[in-house]
Amino acid sequence: MADGSTNETTGEREWVTPPPSFVDAANVTAADSEAFLDAGWPACWKRAAELLDWHRTFDSVLDDEETVRWYPGGRLNASYNCLDRHLDERGDEPAVTWEGKLGETRTYSYRELFDEVNAFAAALRDLGVGEGDVVTLYMPMVPELPVAMLACARIGAPHSVVFAGFSADALATRLAGANSECLVTCDGYYRRGDALDLESTADNARLSVDHAVEQVVVERLGDDRSFDDDHVYADLVDEHAGTEVDPVERDAGDLLFLIYTSGTTGEPTLVRHETGGYLAYVTWTSHAVLDLGPGDTHWCSADVGWITGHSYAVYGPLALGATTVLYEGTPDHPQKDRLWKIIERNEVDVFYTAPTSIRAFRKWGEEHLERHDLSSLRLLGTVGEPIDETTWHWYREHVGGGECPVVDTWWQTETGGIVLSTLPGVDRMRPGAVGRCLPGLEAAVVDDAGERVPVGEPGRLVLTRPWPGMARSLCEATDWGDHRTTTVDSAERSRGDSESSPPSGVDVSRDTGDRSSGRDPREDGEWRYDTGDNAVRDADGYLRLLGRADDVLNVSGHRLSTTEIEFAIVGVDGVAEAAVVGGKDAVTGARVHAFVSLESNVAGDEALRERVRAAVESGIGPIAVPDVVTFAPSLPKTRSGKVVRRYLEAIANGEDLGDTSALRNPEVVGELTSLLDR
Ligand code: WT7
Repeated sequence: MADGSTNETTGEREWVTPPPSFVDAANVTAADSEAFLDAGWPACWKRAAELLDWHRTFDSVLDDEETVRWYPGGRLNASYNCLDRHLDERGDEPAVTWEGKLGETRTYSYRELFDEVNAFAAALRDLGVGEGDVVTLYMPMVPELPVAMLACARIGAPHSVVFAGFSADALATRLAGANSECLVTCDGYYRRGDALDLESTADNARLSVDHAVEQVVVERLGDDRSFDDDHVYADLVDEHAGTEVDPVERDAGDLLFLIYTSGTTGEPTLVRHETGGYLAYVTWTSHAVLDLGPGDTHWCSADVGWITGHSYAVYGPLALGATTVLYEGTPDHPQKDRLWKIIERNEVDVFYTAPTSIRAFRKWGEEHLERHDLSSLRLLGTVGEPIDETTWHWYREHVGGGECPVVDTWWQTETGGIVLSTLPGVDRMRPGAVGRCLPGLEAAVVDDAGERVPVGEPGRLVLTRPWPGMARSLCEATDWGDHRTTTVDSAERSRGDSESSPPSGVDVSRDTGDRSSGRDPREDGEWRYDTGDNAVRDADGYLRLLGRADDVLNVSGHRLSTTEIEFAIVGVDGVAEAAVVGGKDAVTGARVHAFVSLESNVAGDEALRERVRAAVESGIGPIAVPDVVTFAPSLPKTRSGKVVRRYLEAIANGEDLGDTSALRNPEVVGELTSLLDR
C-alpha cells in the first residue's frame, strides 16, 4: 500500500494504520495525547481552552458544586476568536470560500469577513437586538449565514439557525419557542434546477407567531420583488460599512446558540450551547481529530442548519484560522462529479461527510471520481450514522487514494462536538468501529440495570464524565457522585474502560426525551449521560455503534441490532443501502423486513434476494435472516440524511403513516407502499 499504510488482519479484527507521513505531521501525536491525560481530569480540559483567546481567564476549569459549569469566571467572545485574532497574521488569507448552485464562487478573506460581520452586527444593534436576544436565521447555504452567526455572537445575541428546508409551521414553532423577535432569511434559493421561495414561507411563519418579528432579507434570487417593511441585508451592510463593533465579553456559561435536533423518532428538542465550553470543545476537536490549522482548507459538507455545520463548517475551522468551504447545491447537479470538482479546485485538505452520501457516491460509480485529482486530501471523516466496512474501504480507496486516514466520528447535537473517534495521528483504525472516546472523556456500555456488560456484549452507550461541549440541559440535569476521587488516566484510555470497577447502578433505561439521564437518585452514583444509542466494545476497547436503542428488533426473544443486519446486507455486491425494520408477527414478535436499494444498473431479482439472505445468515445467524426483502428505489430520510425506520415500519405493517412532511423525499413513501401492495 502506498505511503507506508498497512492493513493487518488479526483473526476477524482488521487494523488499518495511518501513513507515517500523516502521523509525523499530525496536530496531536501520541506524546501530546499522553500529556493531555497526564494533566489529570478535569484539568486536562485546560488544554482545549488554551486554543482560545479569553478576555478574562477562567477561575477554574470546572465547577461542579451544583450544576456543571465549564471555565467559570472566564469571559470571551466567539466572533473575536474566529475573526479579530487572525487579522494580523492572516487577514488576507481565505476564511470562507463559497460555491453557489449556479457555479458562481465567492471568497472572503479573514479581513473581508471581519468587515462584513462588523457591519451586520452594527445593523442588528440598530434594529434593536441586544445581548441575550435570540436571532433566528432561516437561510440556505449562503455565506451570509456564517456572517450572521458571527454577527450575533459578536453582540452576544444567541442565534437559532433553522434549516431552510423546514416548513412555515416548523419555523413558527421555533420562532415562538425561542421568543425570537428578529429573523434573517433569504428571498429564496436554488435547489436542483429550481428557485425556491423562502421569503413567503418566512412571511407565513411570522403571521402565526404572537409577537412582532423584524425581518432582514438576503437577496439571493434577485428577482426584483419588493420587500415592503423588511430590511434588505445588502442595504444594511452598506449603511454600516466601516463600522467596528466591539465584541461583547460573554461569560463562559452564556448562550452562544440554540438549535433543534433533527429528531428521527419524534418531536425535535431544543438544545442550547454555551460560549466557553462549546467553543473550546469544537476548536479542540477540530485541531485534534480533524487535524485542522491555519493554511488548511476544510470542507464539512453538512448544512450549516445542523449542528455538524455549526461546529465543523463554521466555529471550529474559523477559530483555528483555517479556510472553510461552503457549497449551496447538491452533489449530483449538474453532474455526479460536482463534489470532486470542488475538492480539486479548492485543493481541499480535509473532507468531512456522512455515510449516506458516501453510499450514494459508491452507487453512482467510481468513474465520476477518476476524472479528478483529489491528491490534496490528507484526511477523511464521517459522521451521522454507522459506516459499514465496505463503504469505509470504498471511501478510503476511491476518495482518499488508499492513503488518507478515515476518522469515523460519533457525536450528537447534545454533545456539541466529536466524542468517539480515533485520533488520526495516534490510533490505528478499525473499519466499522468508531474507536474509543477522545482523551478526557469516558464511555461505558451498560445493561438495563446500569451494570457494565462484558466485552463483546451489546448494551446502552453511556458517557460517564462531563466534557466541555455538553449542552446546557446536560449540565443542568446531571448529578455528581464520587467522580472527584477518580481521574482518567492514560492506562484507562488505552485499555478502554471495560475493566473499571462497576458503578453503583443507575437506571439508564429512563428517557427524558432529550437523551439526558436526568438526576441520579442514588447518592454515590457515577455521573452519567445516556446517549440513547446501543454499542458493543471489542477486546481492544474499540466501540461499534449499533444504532438508536429504539431501533432494536425483538425476534423470538432475541434482540437484534438493525445496524448489524444492515451492515451484512450492504456488504453484498450491488447493494447500495439497506434499512431493516420489524414487521409485526403474532408468533415471533417481529418479522425481519429489509428494505434494500441497489447500485445503478443492478437488477433486484430473486437471486439477489437469496444473496442478501445468505449474507445475513453467515454474518449474524439464521435468526436474523430477513423474512421479507423489498427492493426500494430509495429510503425515506430526514433532511439531515438519516433513514427514518419509523415510516418503513409503518409501511411494512400496512399502518397509517401520519405526516411525512419532515422527510427530504416524502414521495418514496408512496412508492414503497404501492410496491408492497402489489
Ligand atoms: C445520532 C445523533 C453527530 C452530529 C450530527 C447528527 C448517530 C452520529 C455516528 C457515527 C454511528 C452515529 C447516533 C447519534 N450517529 N454519528 N459516527 N456512528 N452513529 O446529530 O442529529 O443529534 O444525531 O446520530 O445515533 O445518537 P444528531
